[in-house]
Amino acid sequence: MDFSDIEVLVGSGTIDSFIGEKIVGRAMAGSQVPFYVCDLDEVCEKHLRWRNLLPRATPFYAVKCNDTPAVLRTLAALGTGFDCASKREMELVLSLGVSPDRIIYAHTTKPASHLRHARASGVDTMTFDCEDELDKIATFHPKVVDRSEPMFQAVVWGPTCAAVDRLQDALLPKLRVGDWLLSDDMGAYTVVMATHFNGFEKAEVYAVLSAQGWEKLKFCESFKDSAHVE
Ligand SMILES: Cc1ncc(COP(=O)(O)O)c(C=O)c1O
Repeated sequence: MDFSDIEVLVGSGTIDSFIGEKIVGRAMAGSQVPFYVCDLDEVCEKHLRWRNLLPRATPFYAVKCNDTPAVLRTLAALGTGFDCASKREMELVLSLGVSPDRIIYAHTTKPASHLRHARASGVDTMTFDCEDELDKIATFHPKVVDRSEPMFQAVVWGPTCAAVDRLQDALLPKLRVGDWLLSDDMGAYTVVMATHFNGFEKAEVYAVLSAQGWEKLKFCESFKDSAHVE
């Protein structure tokens, strides 16, 4: 990261002596233009205080507070996340080499073009506090909304209470009694391994074929004599 705009106080230098030098320098140059001094020690110290007092909270610095490049670069180096309110703020933080998963796109009303930019940049975490905004996010950055439902690591068991009747490990949303679980690509090593243990029925198998599939299949050589062929 480029820290060339940060001046390091050497020897017995303090913020006050630094300010004095700047005032003298300006006077000699005939300038009365006001200036700021940004104390990055304070930024580092506050960051460490945050981390020590709230070790389980991850800070996301709101870029809108102060987007001075030296402040952002210092925070990026310290490992904070960033709260960005617009496309421009996302671009600014990403340009420092911060990875998109350390950014939250936070704004009450996000323009579609900024949502598209977040999507293209891999910024997948964002805020909303009304249904319309959630609908908009679902339209322009659907991955975020898919993710907004919390998922839980789960084991899916069959009904028989047999130890072998373990179907799969899966990430599942919170379920209610009566919900159906639909799984793709089942069959191999499940149908044949099913058990009647405890008197349970094995799952029924419905074999289905599309109309086009049936058209193709019924002309196959081995099907020619089948009773099903019309
Ligand atoms: C969805 C949402 N609501 C509200 C706010 C404003 O929050 P606060 O009132 O805490 O400044 C923000 C700011 O980022 C936001 O993203």
